[in-house]
Amino acid sequence: MNKVGVIGWPIEHSLSPAMHNAAFAALGMTDWQYDKMAIPPDIVRQSLKEFRDHNFIGLNVTVPLKQAVMPFVKSDAVAKAIGAVNTIDFRKNVGTNTDASGFMDDLAAHGVDVAGKRVVVLGAGGAARAAVYGLSQAGAEVIVVNRTPERAERLLQDVQSSGRALSLEEASGLSFDVLVNATSVGMSPKADESPWPDELPFPQGIAVYDMVYRPAKTRLMMRADGVGCRVIGGVGMLVRQGAAAFRLWTGVEPPIDVMMKAVLDGLSGQTGTKG
Ligand code: ATR
Repeated sequence: MNKVGVIGWPIEHSLSPAMHNAAFAALGMTDWQYDKMAIPPDIVRQSLKEFRDHNFIGLNVTVPLKQAVMPFVKSDAVAKAIGAVNTIDFRKNVGTNTDASGFMDDLAAHGVDVAGKRVVVLGAGGAARAAVYGLSQAGAEVIVVNRTPERAERLLQDVQSSGRALSLEEASGLSFDVLVNATSVGMSPKADESPWPDELPFPQGIAVYDMVYRPAKTRLMMRADGVGCRVIGGVGMLVRQGAAAFRLWTGVEPPIDVMMKAVLDGLSGQTGTKG
């Protein structure tokens, strides 16, 4: 059996097992299995050794372990730049990060071209780092807006982006092409909140990408939709970061539609928290 899985703490709400196992089933890959394992941060080192000893092919890594695993694997250039590992390949003992490619692949799938475009990213956590890295690599002009401005400055330095950190007020006075919410603001159960204050207008004709996928249509998306913006929710990024890990482990092209359906089915059966 080829074993893969996801580690996190807690892990019970993770949609990754349903997504990957559906893909294995659809492709007849009966010798592959994806499990979820709750691993507290203080035993990460020992746990990684055990997964390796038990011949796991690889792991996904989620909150709060994405940084904790870094001392115990060789980070590739992407994981180093983002400062977090979300996917491990034990055959090479390499840690990478598929959030950036998941995000960029989903933008491309929706026909959003960012090369040479000005993109405002809200947030400076792990999700924002992945977005800013991917956008900068693709030739976008990135503006980072964060509640804590020092974190935005730090992010730009770390991912070596030539972008700028601005306040919300400064950014809202500019023209730009794409707005990305990479904060957790608006996520269920606080779905009445929005990272873009209601009184701030949107530049006309922009695309708004909300990485939040619970609820499927956030307050930010509803407001932007109401004034004619293109709106995209975060479920595609979740699927495509998983698809990138699947490709890495198996060498097989994953069935995106099957993975998407498994995630949407999982979400419709859940209410609640991040995962
Ligand atoms: P993740 O890894 O999912 O990105 P994170 O590292 O905790 O999570 O980052 C959360 C982001 O959401 C941060 O940018 C955070 O802003 P701060 O850096 O100022 O903490 C932002 N965020 C969370 N709650 C917020 C709120 N109520 N208002 C504004 N920003 C918020």
